[in-house]
Amino acid sequence: MISTLLGGLTPQQFLTDYWQKKPLLIRQALPDFKGIMSHDALLAMAQDEDVESRLVRRGRDGWEVRSGPQRAADLRRKRDPWTVLVQGVNLSVEAGDALMRCFNFIPQARLDDLMVSYATDGGGVGPHFDNYDVFLLQGTGQRRWRISDQQDRRFVEDAPLRILADFQPTEEWVLEPGDMLYLPPHWAHDGVAVGECTTYSIGFRAPTAQELAEGFLDWLQQRIALEGIYSDPDLQPATEPARIEAGMIEQIARMLEQIRWNKDMVADFVGSYLSEPKAHVFFDPPDSPMSPKRFAEAIAKNGCRLDPRAQLLVSANALYLNGERVDESALEDRDLLALANNRSLPAERCKNATNPEGLYELYLDGFLHPDARSQ
Ligand code: SIN
Ligand code: CO
Repeated sequence: MISTLLGGLTPQQFLTDYWQKKPLLIRQALPDFKGIMSHDALLAMAQDEDVESRLVRRGRDGWEVRSGPQRAADLRRKRDPWTVLVQGVNLSVEAGDALMRCFNFIPQARLDDLMVSYATDGGGVGPHFDNYDVFLLQGTGQRRWRISDQQDRRFVEDAPLRILADFQPTEEWVLEPGDMLYLPPHWAHDGVAVGECTTYSIGFRAPTAQELAEGFLDWLQQRIALEGIYSDPDLQPATEPARIEAGMIEQIARMLEQIRWNKDMVADFVGSYLSEPKAHVFFDPPDSPMSPKRFAEAIAKNGCRLDPRAQLLVSANALYLNGERVDESALEDRDLLALANNRSLPAERCKNATNPEGLYELYLDGFLHPDARSQ
C-alpha cells in the first residue's frame, strides 16, 4: 500500500479508529495526484450512453438533475455553477481500476465503484448524506468540504435530489490535489468547488437485509425441487364454494416447510451475488484472438491482468467469476488465487502457469488481457 494513503496510519489503526466510526482528513494521501484523466476525457465519458452520469445544477428555480448521456452543450455552459458526476470510471479506465486497488486492505466484496466528478466554480450536489463509506480524493483544483454529524436528516421536499433541509456544518477544509477525506455512512457533507475541480469518490457497498433476502430467494428458487402434489381424497361437499378451508392452508404450509437452506448454500449465494457484474456491464471478447501459443508467449513476456469489469472473488469452498461458480479445482490453482487478489499476474508467474489453458479461456471470454505494459 502507498505509505501516505492513510496519513501515516496503518490499515489496522485506520480500521480500528475511523472505519465506519468517524471522518479522517488526510493531507497529501496521494502526493502528486492530479487525477487519472483529463477534464475533456471525463466530459466525453459523460456523453457516452453506456456510462451512468448525472448533471447537477443549481439555477434560479432551484436544483436540477439530468441523467446521462449528457448533451455536449450542457457541458459547455458558463451560466450557473454545475457539476457532472460519472459513475463506474474504474470499469472502463484501467488507471481507475488501479486507483481502487490502492484500497486493497478492504475486501473487494465491499468495494463499489469509482465515481469522478467535474465541477465549475461553486458547483456541487448540495448538503446531503450517503448510506455508504466513501474516500473523497481531490483530483485537479480545490474543493471546500463542510461536514456534520447531525442527527437531523430531513430533506428539502420536492427537490430532485436529496438535499438536507437544515445543514449545520461543524468542520470545514479546503482540499488540494492529492488530499483525501474519509467519511463514514450518514455523515452530512457538502463539497463546493473552489474554481473548477475534479473529485474522485472511492465508494463502498453494503447491501441491505432486504436486498440480500430478495437476491437469496431469487437464487434459491432456481435450485429447489420440492416433492409432492396437493391432494384431498377425503374432500367433503362444499357449503361455501368460495371459501379456502383451513385444512388446505395447513397442507400447503407443510409442503412449503420442505424449503430448507444451510450455510454452504448461503456461501454459494454470497459468492455469486457479490461477484455479479453491474447491470450495464458487457465484456468484449477479442475480435481476432491470438492462438494459445501466441497468447502464452505474450503473457510470459508482459504478464496479464483481469479486465477492469471482471469480478473474481474467493470463498472457502469455491471461486466466483462474474456471478458464476468456477470449477472446484480452481481453488487449487494458486495462479488464479493470486490473480483474484492482485487482479494481475506478473510475467514470471505466467511463464510457469499451472493452468495456461484456463488463462487462455478467460482471455477468449474477454475477462483477462495480456498486459501491454513492460514489467
Ligand atoms: C462530488 O461532488 O464529487 C462528491 C459527491 C458526494 O458528496 O458524494
Ligand atoms: Co456524498
